[in-house]
Amino acid sequence: MIFELTEEQRMIRDIARDFAQNELKPGVIERDEQQRFPAEQVKKLGELGFLGMMVAPQYNGAGLDAVSYVLVMEELSKIDASASVVVSVNNSLVCYGLEQYGTEEQKEKYLKPLAVGEHIGAFCLSEPEAGSDATSQRTMAADMGDYYLLNGTKNWITNGSTASTYLVMAQTHPEKGHRGINAFIVEKGMEGFTVGPKENKLGIRGSDTHSLHFSDVKVPKENRIGEDGFGFKFAMKTLEGGRIGIAAQALGIASGAYELALNYAKERQTFGKPIAQHQAIQFKLADMATQIEAARLLCLKAAWLKDQGQPYAQAASMAKLYASEVAMKTTVEAVQIHGGYGYVKEYHVERLMRDAKITQIYEGTSEIQRMVITREVLKD
Ligand code: CAA
Repeated sequence: MIFELTEEQRMIRDIARDFAQNELKPGVIERDEQQRFPAEQVKKLGELGFLGMMVAPQYNGAGLDAVSYVLVMEELSKIDASASVVVSVNNSLVCYGLEQYGTEEQKEKYLKPLAVGEHIGAFCLSEPEAGSDATSQRTMAADMGDYYLLNGTKNWITNGSTASTYLVMAQTHPEKGHRGINAFIVEKGMEGFTVGPKENKLGIRGSDTHSLHFSDVKVPKENRIGEDGFGFKFAMKTLEGGRIGIAAQALGIASGAYELALNYAKERQTFGKPIAQHQAIQFKLADMATQIEAARLLCLKAAWLKDQGQPYAQAASMAKLYASEVAMKTTVEAVQIHGGYGYVKEYHVERLMRDAKITQIYEGTSEIQRMVITREVLKD
């Protein structure tokens, strides 16, 4: 078993680390406060190839592996999870879904601009009454011959107002249950498609999360992804990879908070010595370091399985479940180590603590990850 990264993987990680320090860190506190989308930074991420990392070069992608994707997600998320969620959704939910299951025409028209960040993508599964219970889609796509008529509402959509390309799941044959669901490519600007106001969130406040409304939107038949009724499987297969991205985001939030706490503990003096010399703090640092390393190994294992073409649903859910719990615990401890300073914005850890929470909720709550893991375990 080889635990070494390749030279290329190290180089990509270092580029992401520099980018996070030089481009994401300045202004991250203000963007969070003002709920401002990191538009300029996302544009530069596109120029670096980080928005279509795993897409084949023939579709404008960087052609990198999932291990590199995890490395990049960790580095960006150490500093700005509002920017890294754009990278995650665009790469794993939108580009992957189109590359894997789209037609050649769909890839030419939609994937190519998404892979370089000329367009941003959104993945639209959740609804006011269908979150964890994703089979209960109420958005309807009536088959009208050469087009579908889309009606309904989607909730909590990441990149809701910034995206140009939306992958929307909707029910076409309610009598068939989840086998009647389809996935569609919907363009911003299609008549009847409107974006609701931005959600005022606890964390990842720079990310633009919106509800979307579809009222008699005509979606051309050629914009359906896969065979009639493939939509639910499309969403599930795509989310498997998405969960690796969010696991790596959680890992980055945890390791970012840990690095800040470690540096602070070396500098801050109490009772005549740096607090890192007190056993109470040392025990916290040891637990944080150990849990982060375990989370990193789970993320890399899931990515490696994906790169090998092996099944990775269980590994992805394990990585997301564990890394998101570590993100929550680690960020709370990082605030504690900082004491009163940790509770104010300038020290960054309170933001990381708020950002951590979403990793236990989106792309399947921790409870959903446990369901997926148990189902796989019971198959053995
Ligand atoms: N791959 C392929 N097919 C799959 C699959 C997978 N990973 N998981 C399920 N399926 C198939 C099943 O085989 C079954 O098909 P058949 O009946 O033809 O055999 C069908 O899907 C239904 O599966 P289940 O009976 O297991 O469905 P369920 O209702 O019991 O639950 C679930 C499935 C795992 C709980 C699923 O509903 C789920 O993952 N829910 C969470 C949804 C989620 O993650 N939402 C996140 C929103 S996206 C987001 O957050 C993006 C963002 O903006 C950041």
